[in-house]
Amino acid sequence: MNMQTFSFLAPQVVFGVKSAENISEHITRMGAKHVLLVSDRGLEKAGLVDQLRAWIGKANVTITTYTDIEPEPSVDNVRACVNFARQAGCSLVVGMGGGSAMDSAKVVATLLGNNGDIMDYLGQNKVPLKGVPTILLPTTAGTGSEIGRGALFYVPERHSKEAVFSSHMLTDLALIDPVLALSAPASVTASSGLDALCHAIESYTGRAANPLSMPFAELGIKWIGKYLAPAVADGSNLEAREGMALGCLYASIALANANTHAVHALAYPLQGKNRIVHGKANSVLLPYVLKALAPSLPEKFANIASWMNLAQGVSLVEGINRLSEQIGIPAKMSVMGVTASQLEDLTQEAVQIRRLLDNCPVLLDGLQIQAIYQDAL
Ligand SMILES: [Fe+2]
Repeated sequence: MNMQTFSFLAPQVVFGVKSAENISEHITRMGAKHVLLVSDRGLEKAGLVDQLRAWIGKANVTITTYTDIEPEPSVDNVRACVNFARQAGCSLVVGMGGGSAMDSAKVVATLLGNNGDIMDYLGQNKVPLKGVPTILLPTTAGTGSEIGRGALFYVPERHSKEAVFSSHMLTDLALIDPVLALSAPASVTASSGLDALCHAIESYTGRAANPLSMPFAELGIKWIGKYLAPAVADGSNLEAREGMALGCLYASIALANANTHAVHALAYPLQGKNRIVHGKANSVLLPYVLKALAPSLPEKFANIASWMNLAQGVSLVEGINRLSEQIGIPAKMSVMGVTASQLEDLTQEAVQIRRLLDNCPVLLDGLQIQAIYQDAL
């Protein structure tokens, strides 16, 4: 054997139906006195913010709440939350929501422990110190923000989505309660679930795949393949929500340790230039990127097709197309407002995302990337 060197990182995880109800025990254990709860307006309207505040309150702490996190937040949006948190003087940040709220919570906590502005920390490993502790509670099975070290923000002056990436951003506790996802709308369940499937498939097929990440990717594909369509068909199906939460956890651990590649690289410009949300951008591109890679990865694609329990003779690309159609994902980017005149610009931006493209098993050049966009248009 001549195995590559690999490392593995994951935060503490507490997983289970109704596990969020016991959040106060974790807060007490962490010794926090003043908690900042970061979430969004949608969850506030749905009553989940009040519910969580009541559970946190059992720890007998001061609670300050911030729910002005926008979908796909900009650096200005998170800066406002940081200023609010610095004035309040919080010693623990609880983030509840999808990727937007959890990414914001991670960066706010980081900036509470470091001076300066979010712009100082965009990029890889630029955070000098760990911030205040965090607890993250996902309400959609998808982004994996609760497991990973990155956080994505829109930078308006550059029309781009950029990441703060640092091991100091790893949460102190990922508290995953499938009950919190029961109110997620079908369209969010579908696109965030396919995003999680992208994480599992890309981390399994990428160059950074390693002996510890691959079993998690396999389990992610199996569980998401089984439970995504039922969770979209009936959002109140707790078994399907639990299956998706576990599948997403597996996929997120694989993602955090082996990264994504071409689907996410091509999706970034759609998020920055067209402001298409992360899950939708990845979902629409997934079958077209897989189609381009299929001839180079026959064995791995056959494995994925069997883990997804596709019928004999159905290719992975066909299987993904059928699943996308079944759960209501648009088949083409043009439905989301992308036009033919943009393809060159999108390509020029995508080819620069080396952090992801260099992890792709097939090194795609500009012409190949533009051909994938054209196919997906
Ligand atoms: Fe993603």
